[in-house]
Amino acid sequence: MDDARSQLIDNVRIAISEQNNEQDVLKAAVGLIDQFSEDFDWTGFYLLKDKILEVGPYVGPETPHTRIELGKGICGAAATEKKAIIVDNVQADSRFLACSLTTKSEIVVPLMDGDKVIGEIDIDSNQPSFFKEVDRLMLEAIANVIVNRLRELT
Ligand code: SME
Repeated sequence: MDDARSQLIDNVRIAISEQNNEQDVLKAAVGLIDQFSEDFDWTGFYLLKDKILEVGPYVGPETPHTRIELGKGICGAAATEKKAIIVDNVQADSRFLACSLTTKSEIVVPLMDGDKVIGEIDIDSNQPSFFKEVDRLMLEAIANVIVNRLRELT
């Protein structure tokens, strides 16, 4: 992985080690992740509570999708399939739930605690085909450090 992405993973690990509850961990992480690229136009967390994805801390425009059922949206698909999803052209994906009319591409990466999904990282970009495999790898590593920190706090 390139230096900038490795650095972000380290920076998230360090920042969240100083946070002592779930909300503060997620807020610290989302702020750093969002700063990584000007083309991350909505960066946030969803948390899985009673089979509903509830929006957590985010940076970006207010979203109408504060609660997403597991069968709905790209977010619901990633949580159901327990794997990251990259969508190059959201308009061509019938699952897409729009947060903003300007969104062109999206990545959703589950937060996995063992084989259980506890939430996910969701990023929208106004650039088409913005997210690459290297972003998936970076966000999976970040998801992992977040889950490890949340485990330490419970
Ligand atoms: N686009 C997501 C919904 C979340 S908003 O983008 C913040 C989806 O299709 O599930």
